[in-house]
Amino acid sequence: MSINQDDSALLTKPVPPSTTLAWRHHHVLDIDDFTREEIELVFQTTDAMQEVLSRPIKKVPTLRGKTVVTLFYEASTRTRVSFELAAKNLSADTVSVTSQTSSATKGESLVDSLDTLQALGANIVVIRHPCSGAPYLVARRLQASIINAGDGWHAHPTQALLDLYTIRKHKGSLKGLKAVIIGDITHSRVAHSNIWGLTTMGIEVTLSGPPTLIPPGLDREHDSFPKVNVDYNLDRAVEGADILMALRLQHERQQSGLLPSIREYVQLYQVNEARLARAKPDALVMHPGPVNEGVEISPAVAHGSQSVIEEQVTNGVAVRMALLYLLAGGKEQ
Ligand code: CP
Repeated sequence: MSINQDDSALLTKPVPPSTTLAWRHHHVLDIDDFTREEIELVFQTTDAMQEVLSRPIKKVPTLRGKTVVTLFYEASTRTRVSFELAAKNLSADTVSVTSQTSSATKGESLVDSLDTLQALGANIVVIRHPCSGAPYLVARRLQASIINAGDGWHAHPTQALLDLYTIRKHKGSLKGLKAVIIGDITHSRVAHSNIWGLTTMGIEVTLSGPPTLIPPGLDREHDSFPKVNVDYNLDRAVEGADILMALRLQHERQQSGLLPSIREYVQLYQVNEARLARAKPDALVMHPGPVNEGVEISPAVAHGSQSVIEEQVTNGVAVRMALLYLLAGGKEQ
């Protein structure tokens, strides 16, 4: 697929017929309902967006006349900025709203705020909210496409897609790889979406972290949750791994008594050089950010040759361009 800077056909028919057929989503709420083929389609579309981003003028007219609103009820740097860049690169009109600057401060409900944004012409709303399920609530009500930019502990689908894309860039084929997700699994929307995405693509997932931060019984067979391994011993879990994905440790976990101390966490669960040496020689070190350097990952590993943390952030723009493009093309706005 190629996306031409001056291809006016893209204005009215942004997605070629073959891709339109495979794309059935009006919203991106999580990737638990994405097939392997749909994730491959996001990868292919992202490749085309990377090509756009390699041009001197990184802009195509695909979303001209569309309005993309980012509505963030929680802090964000990477996700919010990359969505705004992605929308601008596709020539959409962009509006950025935060809870501090919206009428939420005057008591307006989430649903009323979204109704207002739709009345003002929003075609796609990118929402981050501290309550799990908030994007689902608004998606049931609005005509606009909703993209979940992180809801509570539940899901962060665009993070998982950019993580998968980054892995694919380095490894080519994903099937049969071994990934270890490390840290606070219970409270991590990144972990939850990645478990769905990684397993859908045929990657074997092991969860490792303090027993207090991993829901019990996850390694048993479930009808409605992917098969994963759990190993509380990180030294053992990383043996032969292709991907080490560390999660941010939120300080409030220690205050809530789920962690004895940061020092003990570092001793048992930090991704450091000794642990990385137990993984495959070409293993990737990943982190969704923001990183507590020296806690989840040692500085040497965070900045070492196997770290792809910065590349994850960079790839976020092209992946989000791909999703905006597919959503705009999959259904008339
Ligand atoms: N990874 C991630 O969601 O980062 P931000 O909170 O900065 O968006």
